[in-house]
Amino acid sequence: MRAPFLLLLLAAAAPCGGQVAGEARLLGSADSTIPAGPLGVSSCRGRALLLATRDSLPGHVGNRLRCTSCHLEAGRRASGTWVGVFARYPQYRPRSNSVETIDYRVSDCFRRSMNGTPLASETYGTTDADNSVVVVLRHGGIPIGMDTPMWAKYKFGEFFKIHDGVTNAPAVRNPFSKVKAGELPIPGMALDELSAKGVLFGICNVALTVHSGIFAKSMGLRADAVRQDWVASLLPGVQIVPSGVIAVNRTQERGCAYCFAG
Ligand code: HEC
Repeated sequence: MRAPFLLLLLAAAAPCGGQVAGEARLLGSADSTIPAGPLGVSSCRGRALLLATRDSLPGHVGNRLRCTSCHLEAGRRASGTWVGVFARYPQYRPRSNSVETIDYRVSDCFRRSMNGTPLASETYGTTDADNSVVVVLRHGGIPIGMDTPMWAKYKFGEFFKIHDGVTNAPAVRNPFSKVKAGELPIPGMALDELSAKGVLFGICNVALTVHSGIFAKSMGLRADAVRQDWVASLLPGVQIVPSGVIAVNRTQERGCAYCFAG
């Protein structure tokens, strides 16, 4: 019984394997506060990239330096510190005479300090397969999950106040699915394109039921018939979930981080 107990202690003391010496005098939280679970695993992976940059990202480093060659003591010394750096960006920088994002600033160190190339598209260098994204459509977002004929028949654009970026009028087609290149501000953001990349879509049953009831009333139709019409027109990959809010909670329980970008 002794060995597992010892291992457990070691794991708690050095979650990423190896601590910065004398960390009490450094800025930021102690390594021992890195949590267990997916967040801790990501923290350790990030830390490995900073400490062993060339080994971890050989295609991006053109000299023998690693990030912590200059950002001493894992970026926790007062000068060149990374502590709190996310909160300091976006930031105006006279050198580029522009407001820089944190991605841009890190890319600058890759280019100038590491004589290398920045990570793909100045993001985190992850691939689609590294991410699990779940989008839950609820309340006024439900028409996004339905195919164009429903938009024309029920005039979703008018009711939900969704404009078609091409006609600049209330949408009578689903403007977020099967679009032509350049119709949406970010390439690849249409529902069918995201779904093909593995993004999962849920649609709230409470919202489907409540809204089909509202439409039925104003159009003199039966609520269950409208709901059936809508359900039959759900885009491929859109799954009905009993409640959108609970689906978001369930997703978080599985390790996803909630992000509202409205
Ligand atoms: C050759 C030295 C050197 C290397 C290697 C280096 N940097 Fe830098 N980095 C700097 C200098 C110098 C600054 C500017 C420091 C300042 O403004 O206080 C800086 C600034 C930054 C900043 C902005 C800090 C702030 O508070 O605005 C970030 C973030 C950063 N570096 C990340 C990285 C990352 C990530 C790597 C590895 C991929 C890296 N750096 C490699 C020298 C380096």
